[in-house]
Amino acid sequence: MTDNKQKTILSTRDVHLWYGKKEALHGIDLDFPEKGITALIGPSGSGKSTYLRAINRMHDLEDNVTVTGSFNFKGTDIYAPTTDTVDLRKRIGMVFQQPNPFPFSTYENVAFGLRLAGVKDKAVLDEAVEKALKQASVWDEVKDNLHKSALGLSGGQQQRVSVARVLATSPELLLLDEPTSALDPVSSHNIEETLLNLRDDYAMIIVTHSMSQASRISDRTAFFLSGDLVEVDDTKHIFLNPEKQETQDYVSGRFG
Ligand SMILES: Nc1ncnc2c1ncn2[C@@H]1O[C@H](COP(=O)(O)OP(=O)(O)O)[C@@H](O)[C@H]1O
Ligand SMILES: [Mg+2]
Repeated sequence: MTDNKQKTILSTRDVHLWYGKKEALHGIDLDFPEKGITALIGPSGSGKSTYLRAINRMHDLEDNVTVTGSFNFKGTDIYAPTTDTVDLRKRIGMVFQQPNPFPFSTYENVAFGLRLAGVKDKAVLDEAVEKALKQASVWDEVKDNLHKSALGLSGGQQQRVSVARVLATSPELLLLDEPTSALDPVSSHNIEETLLNLRDDYAMIIVTHSMSQASRISDRTAFFLSGDLVEVDDTKHIFLNPEKQETQDYVSGRFG
């Protein structure tokens, strides 16, 4: 359980993951509250992305990956054979490091998931597209060019459109893997503001190699090292007064 009064949206227990014979996660126990931002920090290669991708079964798409342990998402057993991954990835949306718009208009990028789900009514689509772009704080910048290619937008705008695309299908949890590391400082700041605006309404898990970003935007921080979870706590606690020496060494910049 998390130590605040929020309900838990996702509870993971004893998560192990192997790439072939190489064990990349060594038994992770981690819970996430219903709302707010949890940052996963740790040096490169510590297993942050591996763990994040396990949450919405992205490793299903790779050969030779073995995942064990339990993933309880609001009562859904994520790895149950009966769990439909298309539906799962609608409930648990993902934003990647590189903005990855499809080569069509901004409007169609955001409407994509809804069209897949069979929504055809233009008024419904228009409203959903506008709402998602507003939530992603990019509406004002794209509203006059909704039907132009999203590839013509700046990287930062594309990344906010990626966030809107995920939000359009009403996810319950958002996974973000270093969403600002390919962006310039101003665009990174815009994404951070967007995430801060969403944190009262969504549960988000963000992998970041930037400790300053984690301390600026996250409510909780989990520190990974060599495939283990060293420590998880309120972000302030992790940065100011961590329990473990390894955490102290990492957050004070002694390695990583
Ligand atoms: N597709 C893969 N095949 C084999 N090993 C991998 C693969 N992806 C990641 N790894 C290894 O798993 C470990 C954790 O990597 P990763 O989760 O990407 O770390 P992080 O996101 O913290 O930088 C590293 O040792 C990495 O080399
Ligand atoms: Mg990574």
